[in-house]
Amino acid sequence: MAEAFNDKVLPADKAQRYAAVAEEIAAVLEGEPNLIARMATVASMLAASFETYFWTGFYVVDPDKPDELVVGPYQGTLGCLRIAFGRGVCGTAARSRQTQVVPDVSAFPGHIACDSRSVSEIVVPVVDVQGHLIAVFDVDSEAQAAFDSVDAEWLERILQDTFAN
Ligand code: SME
Repeated sequence: MAEAFNDKVLPADKAQRYAAVAEEIAAVLEGEPNLIARMATVASMLAASFETYFWTGFYVVDPDKPDELVVGPYQGTLGCLRIAFGRGVCGTAARSRQTQVVPDVSAFPGHIACDSRSVSEIVVPVVDVQGHLIAVFDVDSEAQAAFDSVDAEWLERILQDTFAN
């Protein structure tokens, strides 16, 4: 499976592609309890599956500073290390616990530009089995308005299945 898993062999339809990736992620992670391994695998497999993904990864809630996010496993160019709750798209998703779909980051108040090539993004809160916020999952794209409700629904589902079950 490993070497054949990439955007070239997956279905072209976005929802079908997410469904296929979701199944692969669940299969790879079966029996693996380590949180870092789980996050790294989700970031890697999603980044390999969608050409629109430019930066893909987790900002985790810092156990020592519960109102601050610190960068976790990711794929892409250098990310900012820390983001306060309420700041930028990630901090807004963390504080509100609502998925943020941002078609144009330049129009988002307080957006944090880690890499100026990112022009649209989606950030999904990640909760554990007890319903506690443990991280946010951030995907940035070089394309305008790269993400829509299909991305939101499928990412929410994959993150729920991977971290809250
Ligand atoms: N765009 C994010 C910051 C994180 S990076 O782009 C990797 C934000 O405004 O929350």
